[in-house]
Amino acid sequence: FADPSFSAAVIAWQKQHGRHALPWQQTRDAYRVWLSEIMLQQTQVAAVIPYYQKFLSSFPDVHALAAAPSEAVMAHWSGLGYYTRARNLHRCAQRVVAEYGGVFPHDPELLQDLPGIGRSTAAAIAAFSYGVQAAILDGNVKRVFARVFGIEGYPGSKPIEDAMWQRAVALLPEQGVESYTQGLMDLGATLCTRSSPSCQTCPLARRCVALATDRVGELPVRKPK
Ligand code: ADE
Repeated sequence: FADPSFSAAVIAWQKQHGRHALPWQQTRDAYRVWLSEIMLQQTQVAAVIPYYQKFLSSFPDVHALAAAPSEAVMAHWSGLGYYTRARNLHRCAQRVVAEYGGVFPHDPELLQDLPGIGRSTAAAIAAFSYGVQAAILDGNVKRVFARVFGIEGYPGSKPIEDAMWQRAVALLPEQGVESYTQGLMDLGATLCTRSSPSCQTCPLARRCVALATDRVGELPVRKPK
């Protein structure tokens, strides 16, 4: 599935039309990148921004967070929801301090072993913080792949998810993994949306199987009952 023109199209689009001003894009500090990725797992960008800023003023680095009382961490999370994220966040900070001297590991496999960090989040942290060539696959990317490659199976099923991971790894660019990763996220969030995709302006339109076969409204397929 390797195809350098795919990542080239995503990177070129990201540079011209992607998001560049988000607070966590102004840094390569792994602590800040990690915090943003955990907050963004189940919460929209606009809702995350004020929490992210306030959290960082109270806990400016991983040492401050690790040493904070749980109650203080939970109080800063209050309103964001999915509170398991906050408990894992605190435990993760404590492990990064205890096991890695406060430096988040570069290796996605090691990141993935930490609380609250799955495969896609580990890859995003490694790519954005350290430029490591690692593949993401979140809900937005699954939607883009299902449409562009005309994947008809349910993306939540194990075989389809495995096949999408293989694609994700094969499509990684040799250079520019940061722009590529942000570009995939931004395409999924801003153009290739679930119910009103902007195919007219999509950089992947000319290679999109769903568009060519008039299946954009049907892909990705919904969870089978
Ligand atoms: N969702 C998950 N990670 C994100 C990021 N880095 N920027 C914007 N939205 C995201």
